Amino acid sequence: MFFWKKRKDSGIDMNNLPRHIGVIMDGNGRWAKKRGLPRSAGHSAGAESLKKIVTEANNLGIGYITVYAFSTENWKRPKAEVDFLMNLLLDYLRDAERSLAGENVRIRAIGSRNELSEEIREQIAKTEAMTKDRTGIVMNIALNYGSREELVNAAKKLCEKAVAGEVVPDDLTEQDIENELYTAGQPEVDLLIRTSGEQRLSNFMLWQVSYAEMVFVEKAWPDFKPKDLHECIRIFQHRGRRFGGV
Ligand code: IPE
Ligand code: IPE
Ligand code: MG
Repeated sequence: MFFWKKRKDSGIDMNNLPRHIGVIMDGNGRWAKKRGLPRSAGHSAGAESLKKIVTEANNLGIGYITVYAFSTENWKRPKAEVDFLMNLLLDYLRDAERSLAGENVRIRAIGSRNELSEEIREQIAKTEAMTKDRTGIVMNIALNYGSREELVNAAKKLCEKAVAGEVVPDDLTEQDIENELYTAGQPEVDLLIRTSGEQRLSNFMLWQVSYAEMVFVEKAWPDFKPKDLHECIRIFQHRGRRFGGV
């Protein structure tokens, strides 16, 4: 009853929810700098923010959320920051089984696993296996994710299939490409949110956001609250989506 009322008051049309929300969680470093804190403090605060947003998205009945946690380009950062982020992600995955159990969240990691430590790869496998039968929101954690890498990977797989005589190049369809993406079988992204005022994709889900409504928020990710998610969804619901039609 409580949640129902909350949703009602939020002004969100429950019959027109985005099926899949993508989030580029940006601005952790600047958030920390503004407070005279190390960048790592911003990342920790960002992880707390993430828990609240996933919980709220699930309460609203959103089916899928993909959050950009570490890009294929983020390895360029100082080793200490990369190590901190990897440890934070490891803790998040470990903790998520318990902390997101009440929410029934299904957790998956998307991105290239080869470059990740064995410890993280094992934890991903464990968390995915432990949460796979849950019935709530599907949360894709984009970890060492890059859209170009994903598309190159898809091309490789299709080439292998062509060589094996399983597909005919001339007959390839959009669906064939989609089937090779990390998000195979999931709805395309309807709403893309990026925090911290930057207005770019930074190699995030280029294929999947083809017709997404994009909402750019000035707030840094650690300041992004459930009510800001509501606001983004309301903005989404007031956009006129045409998909190339009239
Ligand atoms: C987003 O915050 C988190 C990651 C990219 C891992 P940033 O670390 O990019 O924060 P800013 O953009 O430097 O403020
Ligand atoms: C994108 O943010 C990656 C994540 C949020 C994980 P960045 O901060 O790395 O992107 P740029 O460098 O500003 O484009
Ligand atoms: Mg950034």
